[in-house]
Amino acid sequence: MRVTIASIITGTIAVAQAVQAQDIHEGRQLALEVCAACHAVLAGQAQSPKAEAPSFEAVAATPGMTAMALNVWLTAEDHPTMPNITLSQTDVRDVSAYILTLRK
Ligand code: HEC
Repeated sequence: MRVTIASIITGTIAVAQAVQAQDIHEGRQLALEVCAACHAVLAGQAQSPKAEAPSFEAVAATPGMTAMALNVWLTAEDHPTMPNITLSQTDVRDVSAYILTLRK
């Protein structure tokens, strides 16, 4: 029994990691295509094209920032200053996974 649970867990982690590498790649593409008009989206890029938009590095460095918090932000009905951008659940997951890789 113990062996079975361990192998299920190991299998799940392996799958999760495989998905994540793909997510991050897709998320980076999406960030460059959709978000880069306003946000500094790449590591080491400090100044956002739109000054009010925080760099993704700064977003990632926000204490307590998680994929869940990003998910809430990105799927909120209305954003005060960020024009509503319609993202699929997959897009949100991918771009959140990417943003969190910028955490130092
Ligand atoms: C047209 C410009 C624009 C585009 C495009 C844009 N943003 Fe934003 N975004 C902003 C601005 C301005 C803010 C600051 C809003 C505020 O604080 O109320 C912001 C805030 C955010 C925040 C919140 C940061 C925080 O710490 O509160 C996140 C997360 C975010 N954007 C992610 C994204 C993602 C992901 C994309 C691409 C899918 C994107 N944005 C595209 C302008 C933009």
